[in-house]
Amino acid sequence: MMKQLHKQTCVNHRREDEIPTSTQSYSPKTLKHPRSIPYIFKEQRFLFILVGILIGSAFFIFQPTLSRLNPSTHSSIPTSIYHRHQDSSSGSSGFASKGSFPGRIPAAIGRKRLRIVVTGGAGFVGSHLVDKLISRGDEVIVLDNFFTGRKDNLVHLFGNPRFELIRHDVVDPILLEVDQIYHLACPASPVHYKYNPVKTIKTNVMGTLNMLGLAKRVGARFLLTSTSEVYGDPLEHPQKETYWGNVNPIGERSCYDEGKRTAETLAMDYNRGADVEVRIARIFNTYGPRMCLDDGRVVSNFVAQAIRKQPMTVYGDGKQTRSFQYVSDLVWHHYP
Ligand SMILES: NC(=O)c1ccc[n+]([C@@H]2O[C@H](COP(=O)([O-])OP(=O)(O)OC[C@H]3O[C@@H](n4cnc5c(N)ncnc54)[C@H](O)[C@@H]3O)[C@@H](O)[C@H]2O)c1
Repeated sequence: MMKQLHKQTCVNHRREDEIPTSTQSYSPKTLKHPRSIPYIFKEQRFLFILVGILIGSAFFIFQPTLSRLNPSTHSSIPTSIYHRHQDSSSGSSGFASKGSFPGRIPAAIGRKRLRIVVTGGAGFVGSHLVDKLISRGDEVIVLDNFFTGRKDNLVHLFGNPRFELIRHDVVDPILLEVDQIYHLACPASPVHYKYNPVKTIKTNVMGTLNMLGLAKRVGARFLLTSTSEVYGDPLEHPQKETYWGNVNPIGERSCYDEGKRTAETLAMDYNRGADVEVRIARIFNTYGPRMCLDDGRVVSNFVAQAIRKQPMTVYGDGKQTRSFQYVSDLVWHHYP
C-alpha cells in the first residue's frame, strides 16, 4: 500500500512538471478574452474591482489609529514611576514634556538602544536612575557591592531581560562592552563614608580610575556623580561652578570631600588626555523614597524622628542654609 502511494505521488509530480509544448491544443481562457475595457465590464468584474479598492483604502485610512500605542502595552515601564511622573508633570520639563506620555511612541523607539553600566545602582539615587534608563528602553548593568545599597531597591526589575545585576566592588577592574557609564558607587551619607574612610577614598580614587579606564577602552561616555561637598565649608553662597571651595584635606570628612575632588580631577584628565567624553554632576542634598533611615542625612533624620514622634534635631544655630531636591527632579531632569 505504501509503495503504491509513493508511486502515485511520483506520478503526480511528473504531471505537474510537464510543460505543455506550443503545438498542443491547450490554450488558457485569457487568450480567448484579451484584457480590454469590455472584458472588465463583463460578469460584474468592475464591481469586484471597486469593492477591492474600497477595502484597501479603508485599511490605509484606519491603520494609523490601529498602530497608536496603548500605554498598557508598555509592560517595561514600572507603573510606580509612570504614575509618579504623570503626577509631577507640573514642572515645565516633566515626564510628559519628554514625549513619553500615554499614547505617544516611547523615546527609545527610533533611536539606538544603549547598553549602560550604573555603578552603585542598588543605592538610593542609583536605583531611581536605573528605573529611568530601563523605562526609556535601554539595557542596564548594575555593579554594586551592597555596602549601602539593597537588592530590594531593584527587585521589581528582576526578570526584565534588559536588566542585569552584578555584585562587584569598583575598586577591582572589570571589562564590559557598554556605551555609557554612570559612576555613582560611593557611600554618600556621613555615617557610612566615615565608617571606613580608607575604603571610601579607595572607592573614589581607584573605583573612578577603573571606570574611566573602562570608558577609555570601550569608547563609552562617562558621568561622575560628584557632590556639593567639593566646596567644603564654602565661603560663597550660593556656590557657582567657578568657585573652587574651602576644603579641609585632613578632616574627618576629607575621605569623601577630597575623594570626590580627586575623582573630578581624574575625570577631567581622562577627558583632556584620553579624549573620554565626560560629565560631572555636583549633586546637592537629595531626598525621596528608598533613602536609608538613620543615615545621618537631614531629611531622613527629620522623617525618622517624626515617625517615632521624637523631637526633630536641628544642628548648629539653626541659621544655616541648604538646598534640597526630590530624587525624581534629579534623575528625570538633570541626567543626560
Ligand atoms: N543623595 C545625595 O543627596 C547625594 C548628594 C551628593 C552626591 N551624591 C552622590 O550620588 C551617589 C549616590 O548616592 P546615594 O545617595 O544614592 O548613596 P547610596 O549610599 O544610597 O548609594 C551608593 C551605592 O554605591 C554602592 N557602593 C559603595 N561603595 C561601592 C564599591 N566600592 N563598589 C561598588 N558599589 C559600591 C553602595 O552599595 C550603594 O548601592 C554617590 O556617588 C554620592 O556621592 C548623593
